[in-house]
This record gives sequence, structure tokens and C-alpha cells, in this order.
Amino acid sequence: MPRIALIPGDGIGVEVVREARRVLEFVSEAEGVPFELVEWDLGADRFLRDGITITEDEFVSLDRDHDAVLLGALGDPRVPSNQHAKDILLGMRFKLDLYVNFRPCVLISPELSPLAAVSPLRLEIFRENTEGEYTGMGGVTRKNTPDEVAIQENLATRHGVERIIRAAFQFAESRGRDRVTLVDKANVMRYVGDLWRRTFSDVASEYADIEVDEMYVDAMAMDLVRRPERYQVLVTSNLFGDIISDLAAEITGGLGMAPSANVHPGRNVLFEPVHGSAPDIAGQGKANPIGAIRCVALMMDHFGYYAAGDHIEAAVLSAYKMGQVTPDIGGKFSTTETATAIIEHIRVAYAASA
Ligand code: NAD
Ligand code: IPM
Ligand code: MN
Repeated sequence: MPRIALIPGDGIGVEVVREARRVLEFVSEAEGVPFELVEWDLGADRFLRDGITITEDEFVSLDRDHDAVLLGALGDPRVPSNQHAKDILLGMRFKLDLYVNFRPCVLISPELSPLAAVSPLRLEIFRENTEGEYTGMGGVTRKNTPDEVAIQENLATRHGVERIIRAAFQFAESRGRDRVTLVDKANVMRYVGDLWRRTFSDVASEYADIEVDEMYVDAMAMDLVRRPERYQVLVTSNLFGDIISDLAAEITGGLGMAPSANVHPGRNVLFEPVHGSAPDIAGQGKANPIGAIRCVALMMDHFGYYAAGDHIEAAVLSAYKMGQVTPDIGGKFSTTETATAIIEHIRVAYAASA
């Protein structure tokens, strides 16, 4: 029986994971697969209460005793250092070596995009998840003096770069995508950029049928607004992937719509919506639960329950078409009402396919 750790976290993370859990329970019942769901109390409240972010034993248990993790979001104005988010979220990515951050941004209906005439649009981002500027390597000296110096290193290894590029090409080949685009800043990041470009070209040479191109990240940001339909699979570093995925999410319906999977093939998987804890709307019942619910669809695909994944995606589209969605995408429904509507559409889909 698959065992899933649920980490609601902070702010709207709590609200959207509550709804994603209902969807998960519904499809688990419909598929006749008893998922065991275990709620974890990790987040700002615990940190402020007990001074603990996450323990080594908890990392071990997440990895050893669970088949997947669903996380809402971490980030709280009461913790300006963001220490708990770094320890828990980056901790899981690094310690469990979840080196692929897969972020599919799929436009389900043309008017959902702020851009004109871009349908269909499917941008699948492979964000390197264990290196780059995120390793915490660096330091500060002469702090709080006029001579303060801060250094934050950008780490790239052949091993790390090659495995994420390979993951992107393998995905493109297995899903019939024709183009993989490398996004970097090789005109300035001389050493790191050169390593990425040589590795990209080496791996690309093994995939003769897939078109490749290379874009500087500044031009990519521009082109994602100008002609996003030109792109399919994007592969990029940790920091550029973070930035580009918010942009890609926004042009495909908004941050509330995008799911992600942090993966090390063959090991644990951490699913999380791309958005954060949104303190500006937390506690108001306005958060769009679709990013989190689509994480459940990704999770079903991951476990091989493809019909469940398809039913969830179709139900999201039906709810959207009927206006049964939150205000960020033009509806008047609350977070809970949106999830209830989606579950009803899933129920109809199962009944029709029975
Ligand atoms: P954010 O993603 O939380 O919010 C950005 C904007 O998008 C806000 O206006 C918010 O209201 C809106 N938004 C986000 N998700 C939404 C949803 N589901 N429905 C409707 N509107 C939504 O980004 P931020 O404001 O830069 O960050 C807030 C906190 O979240 C920070 O502490 C940040 O570090 C953290 N964060 C955490 C994660 C994560 O845990 N995976 C991801 C991003 C940001
Ligand atoms: C994300 C978030 C995280 C990141 C933060 C909260 C550490 O923005 O998952 O996109 O930068 O990776
Ligand atoms: Mn981000």
C-alpha cells in the first residue's frame, strides 16, 4: 500500500493540501487502492513553538517509510530568515537527492492566458534541483561594516548537469516531444555555462530525432511572452528554473494552477504546487487548489494509475469551463467549493468509464 506523507506547511499550503487530500482519498477509493496518508506537522508553527525545523530522523523516515510526499508550501512572515523552508524543502531536495524538479505548465483553455492566441501551450520544465546557487556554499565576512563581503557560489558538476539534461531528453523521447531547449546565461557565466553547453551537446548527440536549441535566460523570458508556442521541454539550472517556472505558470493560467514533482528516479518523490504560502490571501478561502490537486494527478501517473490522473485533469477543465473555480481564474468559488466541484466531475468520469 503506498504510504504518502502530507506536509501542509504554512499559509495557503494548509488550505490547498486539505483539498488535495480529499481528491486523493476519492481516487484512492475509486481505484480500490488504499493509500495510507500520514500528516506531518512541519512548518513555521512548529519552528516558532519548538525551535525545530526538521530532524535527521524525520528525513530518514520520509525517505525510508514513505513512497511519496505532498507538500503545500513553506514561508511565513513571522520567520523572515525563511530558515524552516530552507531546512525542510531544500533539505528534502538535497538530502533525498531529488535532482529533477519537473514543472509542467499546461494551458487548458486559451482565455486563461494573459497572452493572446497561444493555445495550445505545454511548457515542461526540467529544473536542476540539487546544485547551482542553492547549495548554500559561500559566506560573509565583516558583516554589518562598510567593508562587508558576501559570496554565494554557483556549483555545477558534470554529474549533476548531465543527469538533469538526460532526464529532459529521456522525457522528450518517451512522450514524443520534438524539441528540447537549454536555458542558461553562457554569455556571462563562462565556466558554468560552458559546462552546461558541452554536456547538452554531448547528450543531444544521442537523440538525433529531437531538435535542440540554446537560449540565454534573459532572451528566454522575453520569448516566453512573445512566442511561447515555440517551446516544449526546457532544461535549466536551479535558479533559472525557479524564475522561468513562475513565468511559465503565469502564462498558462497562473501560479495557482501549476504542479511540480521533485524526483530521483526510483526513489521517493516530493510533489508540491509551484506557488508559495501566499500570506496576502492566506485564511481567506481564496487560494486556488488546482496546483495541489494536479500534484495528485502527477502522483497517480507516478504510481501507474493513469486513468485517475486523466480523470483529475479532465475534471479540472470541466470545473473551469463551468466557472466552478477561485477568483484568480475568474470564478467565485472558495478553495473548498472548487475542490468539491472537481471531485464531482471525477465521480462522473469514473461512473462513465465503469
Ligand atoms: P507566492 O507564490 O506565495 O505568491 C505570489 C502571488 O501569487 C501572490 O499574490 C499570491 O496571492 C498569488 N498566489 C500564489 N498561489 C496562489 C493560489 N494557489 N491561488 C491564488 N493565488 C495564488 O509567492 P511569494 O509571495 O513570493 O512568497 C510567499 C512565501 O512563500 C515566501 O515565504 C516564499 O519564500 C514562500 N514560497 C514557498 C514555496 C514552496 O514552499 N514551494 C514556493 C514559493 C514561495
Ligand atoms: C519553489 C520556491 C523555493 C525555491 C523556495 C521557497 C526555497 O520558490 O519551490 O519554487 O526557490 O526553490
Ligand atoms: Mn519558486
